[in-house]
Amino acid sequence: MSVLPPRAVRGMSDILPDKTRLWSWLEGQLRQLMSRYSYAEIRTPLLESTRLFARGIGAGTDVVEKEMYSFSDRSGDSLTLRPEATAGCVRAGMEHGLFHNRQERLWSYGPMFRYERPQKGRYRQFHQLSVEAFGMEGPDIDAEQILMTRSLWQQLGLTPYVQLELNSLGTAQARAAYRDTLKTWLEQRQDALDEDSRRRIHTNPMRVLDSKDPATRALLTDAPQLPAFLDGPSREHFEQLCASLDEAGVSYTLNPALVRGLDYYSRTVFEWTTTELGAQGAVCSGGRYDGLTTQLGGKPVTACGFALGMERLVLLLESCQRLPELAAEVDAALVSCGDLGSYSLLLADKLRAACPGLRLQLICGGGSIKSRMKRADRSGARLALLVGESEKEQGTVTVKFLREERDQLQLSFDDLVSSDLLASEPLADPGSPGAVKTGKYSGSH
Ligand code: HAM
Repeated sequence: MSVLPPRAVRGMSDILPDKTRLWSWLEGQLRQLMSRYSYAEIRTPLLESTRLFARGIGAGTDVVEKEMYSFSDRSGDSLTLRPEATAGCVRAGMEHGLFHNRQERLWSYGPMFRYERPQKGRYRQFHQLSVEAFGMEGPDIDAEQILMTRSLWQQLGLTPYVQLELNSLGTAQARAAYRDTLKTWLEQRQDALDEDSRRRIHTNPMRVLDSKDPATRALLTDAPQLPAFLDGPSREHFEQLCASLDEAGVSYTLNPALVRGLDYYSRTVFEWTTTELGAQGAVCSGGRYDGLTTQLGGKPVTACGFALGMERLVLLLESCQRLPELAAEVDAALVSCGDLGSYSLLLADKLRAACPGLRLQLICGGGSIKSRMKRADRSGARLALLVGESEKEQGTVTVKFLREERDQLQLSFDDLVSSDLLASEPLADPGSPGAVKTGKYSGSH
Protein backbone atom coordinates (compact mmCIF):
# COMPACT_ATOMS: atom_id res chain seq x y z
CA MET A 1 0.00 0.00 0.00
CA SER A 2 1.49 3.36 -0.95
CA VAL A 3 1.74 6.02 1.73
CA LEU A 4 0.93 9.59 0.75
CA PRO A 5 3.66 12.10 1.57
CA PRO A 6 2.70 14.42 4.44
CA ARG A 7 1.18 17.79 3.65
CA ALA A 8 0.60 20.93 5.71
CA VAL A 9 -2.81 21.35 7.35
CA ARG A 10 -5.27 23.19 5.07
CA GLY A 11 -5.08 26.95 5.54
CA MET A 12 -1.72 26.74 7.34
CA SER A 13 1.21 27.77 5.20
CA ASP A 14 4.91 27.16 5.26
CA ILE A 15 6.90 30.35 4.91
CA LEU A 16 9.84 29.32 2.77
CA PRO A 17 13.33 30.87 2.73
CA ASP A 18 12.56 33.05 -0.30
CA LYS A 19 9.88 34.74 1.81
CA THR A 20 11.35 34.59 5.33
CA ARG A 21 13.85 37.34 4.52
CA LEU A 22 10.99 39.66 3.60
CA TRP A 23 9.10 38.60 6.74
CA SER A 24 12.13 39.21 8.96
CA TRP A 25 12.69 42.59 7.41
CA LEU A 26 9.04 43.51 7.94
CA GLU A 27 9.13 42.22 11.51
CA GLY A 28 12.18 44.47 12.03
CA GLN A 29 10.18 47.44 10.74
CA LEU A 30 7.31 46.66 13.13
CA ARG A 31 9.62 46.14 16.09
CA GLN A 32 11.19 49.50 15.39
CA LEU A 33 7.80 51.18 15.08
CA MET A 34 6.81 49.75 18.46
CA SER A 35 9.91 51.06 20.16
CA ARG A 36 9.53 54.50 18.52
CA TYR A 37 6.10 54.75 20.18
CA SER A 38 7.39 53.28 23.47
CA TYR A 39 5.47 50.01 23.42
CA ALA A 40 6.94 47.07 25.36
CA GLU A 41 6.80 43.51 24.10
CA ILE A 42 4.70 40.88 25.87
CA ARG A 43 4.70 37.18 24.96
CA THR A 44 1.76 35.09 26.05
CA PRO A 45 1.04 31.37 25.45
CA LEU A 46 -0.55 30.16 22.22
CA LEU A 47 -2.96 28.10 24.31
CA GLU A 48 -5.43 29.61 26.74
CA SER A 49 -8.48 28.24 28.46
CA THR A 50 -11.50 28.13 26.15
CA ARG A 51 -13.47 30.04 28.77
CA LEU A 52 -11.24 33.09 28.34
CA PHE A 53 -12.20 33.50 24.69
CA ALA A 54 -15.87 32.64 25.21
CA ARG A 55 -16.13 35.32 27.89
CA GLY A 56 -13.78 37.83 26.31
CA ILE A 57 -14.63 37.69 22.61
CA GLY A 58 -18.30 36.78 23.15
CA ALA A 59 -20.18 33.50 22.83
CA GLY A 60 -22.34 34.81 19.95
CA THR A 61 -19.43 35.81 17.70
CA ASP A 62 -18.38 33.83 14.63
CA VAL A 63 -14.93 33.37 16.14
CA VAL A 64 -16.22 31.64 19.27
CA GLU A 65 -19.19 29.91 17.64
CA LYS A 66 -17.47 28.39 14.63
CA GLU A 67 -13.81 29.19 14.32
CA MET A 68 -11.91 28.10 17.41
CA TYR A 69 -9.50 25.19 17.55
CA SER A 70 -10.53 23.81 20.93
CA PHE A 71 -9.74 20.49 22.54
CA SER A 72 -9.65 18.80 25.93
CA ASP A 73 -6.19 18.18 27.28
CA ARG A 74 -5.24 15.05 29.21
CA SER A 75 -6.75 16.41 32.41
CA GLY A 76 -10.01 17.17 30.66
CA ASP A 77 -9.54 20.98 30.64
CA SER A 78 -10.87 22.70 27.53
CA LEU A 79 -8.08 24.66 25.84
CA THR A 80 -8.10 26.77 22.68
CA LEU A 81 -5.38 27.84 20.26
CA ARG A 82 -5.61 31.61 20.42
CA PRO A 83 -7.78 33.08 17.66
CA GLU A 84 -6.50 36.57 18.57
CA ALA A 85 -4.13 38.09 21.10
CA THR A 86 -6.11 40.73 23.00
CA ALA A 87 -7.90 38.38 25.41
CA GLY A 88 -4.62 36.65 26.34
CA CYS A 89 -2.83 39.96 26.81
CA VAL A 90 -5.59 41.23 29.11
CA ARG A 91 -5.60 37.94 31.03
CA ALA A 92 -1.81 38.22 31.52
CA GLY A 93 -2.05 41.87 32.57
CA MET A 94 -4.74 41.08 35.13
CA GLU A 95 -2.92 38.02 36.43
CA HIS A 96 0.38 39.86 36.94
CA GLY A 97 -1.04 43.16 38.19
CA LEU A 98 0.21 45.11 35.14
CA PHE A 99 -2.81 47.41 35.14
CA HIS A 100 -2.72 48.26 38.79
CA ASN A 101 -2.74 52.07 39.02
CA ARG A 102 -0.64 52.45 35.94
CA GLN A 103 -0.68 52.77 32.21
CA GLU A 104 0.81 50.16 29.91
CA ARG A 105 1.59 50.09 26.23
CA LEU A 106 2.15 46.52 25.06
CA TRP A 107 2.69 44.71 21.78
CA SER A 108 2.93 41.09 20.82
CA TYR A 109 3.50 39.19 17.64
CA GLY A 110 2.85 35.66 16.50
CA PRO A 111 0.50 33.10 15.00
CA MET A 112 -3.29 33.04 15.55
CA PHE A 113 -5.65 30.21 14.64
CA ARG A 114 -9.17 30.41 13.23
CA TYR A 115 -11.10 27.68 11.47
CA GLU A 116 -12.22 29.88 8.57
CA ARG A 117 -12.72 28.98 4.92
CA PRO A 118 -9.26 29.54 3.44
CA GLN A 119 -8.88 31.89 0.49
CA LYS A 120 -6.44 34.59 -0.59
CA GLY A 121 -5.70 36.70 2.51
CA ARG A 122 -7.67 34.40 4.83
CA TYR A 123 -5.93 31.50 6.51
CA ARG A 124 -6.40 29.13 9.43
CA GLN A 125 -3.01 30.02 10.85
CA PHE A 126 -2.06 33.64 10.33
CA HIS A 127 0.20 36.14 12.07
CA GLN A 128 -0.72 39.34 13.82
CA LEU A 129 1.10 42.24 15.32
CA SER A 130 -1.18 43.06 18.22
CA VAL A 131 -0.88 46.44 19.91
CA GLU A 132 -2.64 47.32 23.18
CA ALA A 133 -2.67 50.38 25.45
CA PHE A 134 -4.18 50.27 28.94
CA GLY A 135 -5.30 52.86 31.47
CA MET A 136 -5.81 55.77 29.05
CA GLU A 137 -9.36 57.02 28.85
CA GLY A 138 -9.07 60.05 26.58
CA PRO A 139 -9.21 59.83 22.78
CA ASP A 140 -5.56 60.90 22.47
CA ILE A 141 -4.41 57.27 22.65
CA ASP A 142 -6.94 56.24 19.98
CA ALA A 143 -5.54 59.04 17.81
CA GLU A 144 -1.95 58.08 18.55
CA GLN A 145 -2.55 54.47 17.51
CA ILE A 146 -4.09 55.63 14.25
CA LEU A 147 -1.17 57.99 13.63
CA MET A 148 1.22 55.16 14.42
CA THR A 149 -0.35 52.98 11.73
CA ARG A 150 -0.35 55.90 9.32
CA SER A 151 3.36 56.29 9.96
CA LEU A 152 3.83 52.59 9.13
CA TRP A 153 2.05 52.99 5.79
CA GLN A 154 4.29 55.97 5.03
CA GLN A 155 7.39 54.00 5.99
CA LEU A 156 6.35 51.11 3.73
CA GLY A 157 5.21 53.28 0.84
CA LEU A 158 1.64 52.00 1.20
CA THR A 159 -0.18 55.27 1.93
CA PRO A 160 -1.95 55.42 -1.46
CA TYR A 161 -3.29 51.88 -1.06
CA VAL A 162 -5.03 52.01 2.33
CA GLN A 163 -8.09 53.83 3.60
CA LEU A 164 -9.23 54.40 7.18
CA GLU A 165 -12.80 53.64 8.28
CA LEU A 166 -14.01 54.86 11.63
CA ASN A 167 -17.02 54.46 13.89
CA SER A 168 -18.01 54.71 17.53
CA LEU A 169 -20.03 51.97 19.21
CA GLY A 170 -20.70 54.01 22.36
CA THR A 171 -20.96 52.46 25.79
CA ALA A 172 -22.21 48.92 26.37
CA GLN A 173 -25.61 50.38 27.45
CA ALA A 174 -25.95 52.55 24.33
CA ARG A 175 -25.01 49.59 22.18
CA ALA A 176 -27.53 47.34 23.93
CA ALA A 177 -30.30 49.88 23.27
CA TYR A 178 -29.29 50.04 19.62
CA ARG A 179 -29.05 46.24 19.39
CA ASP A 180 -32.63 45.88 20.67
CA THR A 181 -33.98 48.45 18.21
CA LEU A 182 -32.08 46.89 15.33
CA LYS A 183 -33.24 43.41 16.30
CA THR A 184 -36.89 44.44 16.24
CA TRP A 185 -36.38 46.22 12.90
CA LEU A 186 -34.70 43.13 11.41
CA GLU A 187 -37.32 40.75 12.79
CA GLN A 188 -40.00 42.71 10.96
CA ARG A 189 -38.10 42.21 7.70
CA GLN A 190 -36.63 38.76 8.17
CA ASP A 191 -38.21 37.31 5.04
CA ALA A 192 -36.14 39.71 2.95
CA LEU A 193 -32.85 38.77 4.60
CA ASP A 194 -30.30 36.17 3.53
CA GLU A 195 -30.16 32.99 5.58
CA ASP A 196 -27.03 33.86 7.55
CA SER A 197 -28.42 37.26 8.52
CA ARG A 198 -31.74 35.68 9.59
CA ARG A 199 -29.81 33.43 11.96
CA ARG A 200 -27.76 36.36 13.24
CA ILE A 201 -30.87 38.34 14.26
CA HIS A 202 -31.01 36.12 17.31
CA THR A 203 -27.32 35.52 17.97
CA ASN A 204 -25.66 38.85 17.10
CA PRO A 205 -27.95 41.30 15.26
CA MET A 206 -25.28 43.97 14.79
CA ARG A 207 -23.24 41.54 12.67
CA VAL A 208 -26.07 41.62 10.11
CA LEU A 209 -24.70 45.07 9.23
CA ASP A 210 -21.59 43.28 7.90
CA SER A 211 -23.59 41.12 5.48
CA LYS A 212 -22.14 40.82 1.99
CA ASP A 213 -25.49 39.72 0.50
CA PRO A 214 -26.59 42.40 -2.04
CA ALA A 215 -30.33 42.21 -1.18
CA THR A 216 -29.63 42.44 2.56
CA ARG A 217 -27.24 45.32 1.97
CA ALA A 218 -29.88 47.20 -0.04
CA LEU A 219 -32.42 46.69 2.74
CA LEU A 220 -29.97 47.89 5.38
CA THR A 221 -29.68 51.36 3.87
CA ASP A 222 -32.92 52.19 5.76
CA ALA A 223 -31.94 50.44 9.00
CA PRO A 224 -31.67 52.40 12.26
CA GLN A 225 -28.13 53.78 12.58
CA LEU A 226 -25.87 53.39 15.55
CA PRO A 227 -24.67 57.03 15.79
CA ALA A 228 -28.23 58.10 16.72
CA PHE A 229 -27.91 55.95 19.86
CA LEU A 230 -24.55 57.24 21.04
CA ASP A 231 -24.49 58.48 24.63
CA GLY A 232 -23.23 62.05 25.24
CA PRO A 233 -19.76 61.20 26.66
CA SER A 234 -19.09 58.71 23.83
CA ARG A 235 -20.16 61.26 21.25
CA GLU A 236 -17.80 63.83 22.77
CA HIS A 237 -14.97 61.27 22.89
CA PHE A 238 -15.51 60.47 19.22
CA GLU A 239 -15.73 64.12 18.18
CA GLN A 240 -12.44 64.82 19.93
CA LEU A 241 -10.82 61.88 18.16
CA CYS A 242 -12.10 63.08 14.78
CA ALA A 243 -10.85 66.62 15.54
CA SER A 244 -7.35 65.28 16.36
CA LEU A 245 -7.29 63.25 13.16
CA ASP A 246 -8.44 66.27 11.15
CA GLU A 247 -5.71 68.36 12.70
CA ALA A 248 -3.13 65.68 11.89
CA GLY A 249 -4.34 65.54 8.29
CA VAL A 250 -5.52 61.91 8.47
CA SER A 251 -8.31 61.21 6.00
CA TYR A 252 -11.00 58.78 7.07
CA THR A 253 -14.50 57.67 6.21
CA LEU A 254 -17.17 57.49 8.90
CA ASN A 255 -18.80 54.09 8.53
CA PRO A 256 -21.82 53.60 10.84
CA ALA A 257 -21.98 49.94 9.78
CA LEU A 258 -18.48 49.19 11.09
CA VAL A 259 -19.24 47.07 14.15
CA ARG A 260 -16.30 44.57 14.19
CA GLY A 261 -16.58 40.85 14.73
CA LEU A 262 -15.50 40.65 18.37
CA ASP A 263 -17.85 41.62 21.18
CA TYR A 264 -15.46 43.42 23.49
CA TYR A 265 -15.41 46.76 21.67
CA SER A 266 -16.88 49.98 23.02
CA ARG A 267 -16.61 53.51 21.64
CA THR A 268 -13.97 53.87 18.89
CA VAL A 269 -13.58 51.16 16.28
CA PHE A 270 -11.43 51.49 13.17
CA GLU A 271 -10.20 49.53 10.22
CA TRP A 272 -7.54 50.21 7.62
CA THR A 273 -8.75 48.58 4.42
CA THR A 274 -7.40 48.15 0.93
CA THR A 275 -9.03 47.41 -2.39
CA GLU A 276 -5.88 45.63 -3.60
CA LEU A 277 -6.61 42.26 -1.97
CA GLY A 278 -10.11 41.40 -3.13
CA ALA A 279 -12.58 40.25 -0.48
CA GLN A 280 -10.08 40.22 2.42
CA GLY A 281 -9.50 43.97 2.48
CA ALA A 282 -8.97 44.61 6.21
CA VAL A 283 -5.26 44.94 6.85
CA CYS A 284 -5.35 46.40 10.33
CA SER A 285 -8.30 46.66 12.70
CA GLY A 286 -9.05 47.56 16.26
CA GLY A 287 -10.62 49.95 18.69
CA ARG A 288 -11.44 50.56 22.31
CA TYR A 289 -12.43 47.82 24.71
CA ASP A 290 -13.00 49.58 28.03
CA GLY A 291 -15.25 46.80 29.36
CA LEU A 292 -13.09 43.73 28.77
CA THR A 293 -11.40 43.48 32.17
CA THR A 294 -14.75 43.69 33.99
CA GLN A 295 -16.22 41.16 31.55
CA LEU A 296 -13.39 38.86 32.66
CA GLY A 297 -14.15 39.44 36.34
CA GLY A 298 -11.56 42.14 37.12
CA LYS A 299 -11.55 45.84 37.92
CA PRO A 300 -12.36 48.25 35.09
CA VAL A 301 -9.37 49.23 32.94
CA THR A 302 -9.75 51.44 29.90
CA ALA A 303 -8.04 50.03 26.81
CA CYS A 304 -7.48 50.63 23.13
CA GLY A 305 -5.67 48.52 20.56
CA PHE A 306 -5.48 47.05 17.12
CA ALA A 307 -3.99 44.15 15.22
CA LEU A 308 -2.30 44.07 11.88
CA GLY A 309 -2.49 40.97 9.69
CA MET A 310 0.99 40.06 8.48
CA GLU A 311 -0.03 37.82 5.57
CA ARG A 312 -2.25 40.60 4.22
CA LEU A 313 0.52 43.15 4.69
CA VAL A 314 2.94 40.93 2.74
CA LEU A 315 0.35 40.41 -0.02
CA LEU A 316 -0.21 44.16 -0.16
CA LEU A 317 3.51 44.92 -0.46
CA GLU A 318 3.72 42.37 -3.27
CA SER A 319 0.64 43.55 -5.07
CA CYS A 320 1.70 47.22 -4.91
CA GLN A 321 5.31 46.38 -5.83
CA ARG A 322 6.60 48.00 -2.66
CA LEU A 323 9.09 45.28 -1.85
CA PRO A 324 12.46 46.26 -0.39
CA GLU A 325 15.71 45.38 -2.09
CA LEU A 326 17.32 43.12 0.44
CA ALA A 327 21.04 42.44 0.46
CA ALA A 328 22.22 38.85 -0.11
CA GLU A 329 22.51 36.78 3.04
CA VAL A 330 26.00 35.51 2.31
CA ASP A 331 29.08 37.70 1.88
CA ALA A 332 31.61 35.06 0.98
CA ALA A 333 31.72 31.36 0.11
CA LEU A 334 34.74 29.29 1.03
CA VAL A 335 35.51 26.68 -1.64
CA SER A 336 38.07 24.03 -1.12
CA CYS A 337 39.80 22.88 -4.30
CA GLY A 338 40.93 19.32 -3.62
CA ASP A 339 40.91 17.14 -0.56
CA LEU A 340 42.27 19.28 2.26
CA GLY A 341 40.81 17.29 5.16
CA SER A 342 39.47 19.61 7.85
CA TYR A 343 41.62 22.54 6.70
CA SER A 344 38.76 24.55 5.11
CA LEU A 345 36.38 23.79 7.98
CA LEU A 346 38.87 25.22 10.47
CA LEU A 347 39.89 28.11 8.21
CA ALA A 348 36.22 29.11 7.88
CA ASP A 349 35.83 29.32 11.65
CA LYS A 350 39.14 31.23 11.93
CA LEU A 351 37.79 33.77 9.44
CA ARG A 352 34.46 34.03 11.31
CA ALA A 353 36.33 34.63 14.57
CA ALA A 354 38.55 37.30 12.98
CA CYS A 355 35.66 39.08 11.16
CA PRO A 356 32.62 38.94 13.46
CA GLY A 357 30.22 40.60 10.96
CA LEU A 358 31.16 38.24 8.14
CA ARG A 359 28.48 35.91 6.77
CA LEU A 360 30.50 33.04 5.42
CA GLN A 361 29.21 29.89 3.78
CA LEU A 362 31.50 26.88 3.63
CA ILE A 363 30.74 24.94 0.47
CA CYS A 364 30.23 21.44 1.86
CA GLY A 365 29.24 18.10 0.41
CA GLY A 366 32.05 17.34 -2.02
CA GLY A 367 31.58 17.25 -5.80
CA SER A 368 33.73 18.58 -8.63
CA ILE A 369 35.35 22.03 -8.43
CA LYS A 370 32.91 23.18 -11.11
CA SER A 371 29.87 22.13 -9.07
CA ARG A 372 31.36 23.66 -5.89
CA MET A 373 31.84 26.96 -7.75
CA LYS A 374 28.26 26.76 -8.97
CA ARG A 375 27.05 26.36 -5.39
CA ALA A 376 29.25 29.30 -4.32
CA ASP A 377 27.62 31.40 -7.03
CA ARG A 378 24.11 30.26 -6.04
CA SER A 379 24.75 31.25 -2.42
CA GLY A 380 24.53 34.89 -3.54
CA ALA A 381 28.00 35.62 -2.15
CA ARG A 382 30.03 38.46 -3.59
CA LEU A 383 33.31 36.62 -3.08
CA ALA A 384 34.54 33.07 -3.47
CA LEU A 385 37.49 32.27 -1.21
CA LEU A 386 39.41 29.44 -2.83
CA VAL A 387 41.88 27.22 -1.02
CA GLY A 388 43.85 24.37 -2.61
CA GLU A 389 47.05 22.53 -1.80
CA SER A 390 49.28 25.53 -2.68
CA GLU A 391 47.18 28.03 -0.68
CA LYS A 392 47.25 25.63 2.25
CA GLU A 393 51.04 25.35 2.06
CA GLN A 394 51.57 29.11 1.75
CA GLY A 395 48.87 30.09 4.25
CA THR A 396 47.05 32.14 1.59
CA VAL A 397 43.56 32.41 0.13
CA THR A 398 42.63 33.15 -3.48
CA VAL A 399 39.83 35.70 -3.68
CA LYS A 400 37.56 35.50 -6.72
CA PHE A 401 35.01 38.25 -7.36
CA LEU A 402 31.72 36.63 -8.34
CA ARG A 403 29.73 39.77 -9.13
CA GLU A 404 32.37 42.15 -10.52
CA GLU A 405 34.79 42.22 -13.45
CA ARG A 406 37.89 42.24 -11.33
CA ASP A 407 41.10 40.20 -11.28
CA GLN A 408 41.37 37.59 -8.60
CA LEU A 409 43.78 38.19 -5.71
CA GLN A 410 45.95 35.94 -3.64
CA LEU A 411 46.28 37.18 -0.07
CA SER A 412 47.72 35.91 3.17
CA PHE A 413 45.20 35.22 5.93
CA ASP A 414 46.28 38.37 7.80
CA ASP A 415 46.10 40.58 4.71
CA LEU A 416 42.67 39.21 3.84
CA VAL A 417 41.35 39.86 7.33
CA SER A 418 42.77 43.38 7.53
CA SER A 419 41.54 44.31 4.02
CA ASP A 420 38.03 45.69 3.65
CA LEU A 421 37.08 42.81 1.35
CA LEU A 422 35.29 40.90 4.08
CA ALA A 423 33.33 43.83 5.48
CA SER A 424 29.73 42.65 5.10
CA GLU A 425 27.41 44.60 2.81
CA PRO A 426 25.06 46.75 4.86
CA LEU A 427 21.58 45.20 5.10
CA ALA A 428 18.58 47.33 4.18
CA ASP A 429 18.18 49.63 7.16
CA PRO A 430 14.72 48.90 8.54
CA GLY A 431 14.45 52.45 9.84
CA SER A 432 15.15 54.45 6.75
CA PRO A 433 12.32 55.07 4.32
CA GLY A 434 14.93 54.92 1.57
CA ALA A 435 15.31 51.21 2.23
CA VAL A 436 11.98 50.59 0.57
CA LYS A 437 12.21 50.65 -3.18
CA THR A 438 9.72 49.74 -5.80
CA GLY A 439 10.53 46.73 -7.94
CA LYS A 440 11.00 43.02 -7.64
CA TYR A 441 12.03 41.25 -4.46
CA SER A 442 15.45 39.80 -5.08
CA GLY A 443 14.78 37.08 -2.53
CA SER A 444 15.94 33.70 -3.75
CA HIS A 445 19.03 32.69 -5.63
P1 HAM B 1 -9.49 41.13 13.89
O1 HAM B 1 -10.18 42.14 13.05
O2 HAM B 1 -10.19 39.87 14.14
O3 HAM B 1 -9.11 41.84 15.26
O4 HAM B 1 -8.09 40.79 13.24
C1 HAM B 1 -7.13 41.81 13.00
C2 HAM B 1 -6.47 41.63 11.65
O5 HAM B 1 -5.96 40.31 11.54
C3 HAM B 1 -7.42 41.77 10.47
O6 HAM B 1 -7.58 43.12 10.11
C4 HAM B 1 -6.69 40.99 9.40
O7 HAM B 1 -5.68 41.80 8.81
C5 HAM B 1 -6.01 39.88 10.18
N1 HAM B 1 -6.78 38.62 10.09
C6 HAM B 1 -7.88 38.28 10.79
N2 HAM B 1 -8.30 37.05 10.46
C7 HAM B 1 -7.43 36.58 9.52
C8 HAM B 1 -7.31 35.36 8.78
N3 HAM B 1 -8.15 34.34 8.95
N4 HAM B 1 -6.29 35.25 7.89
C9 HAM B 1 -5.40 36.25 7.71
N5 HAM B 1 -5.46 37.42 8.40
C10 HAM B 1 -6.46 37.59 9.28
C11 HAM B 1 -8.47 41.22 16.27
O8 HAM B 1 -7.95 40.14 16.20
C12 HAM B 1 -8.36 42.08 17.51
N6 HAM B 1 -7.70 41.30 18.57
C13 HAM B 1 -7.64 43.37 17.23
C14 HAM B 1 -7.51 44.23 18.43
C15 HAM B 1 -6.42 44.37 19.22
N7 HAM B 1 -8.45 45.00 18.93
C16 HAM B 1 -8.00 45.59 20.03
N8 HAM B 1 -6.76 45.21 20.22
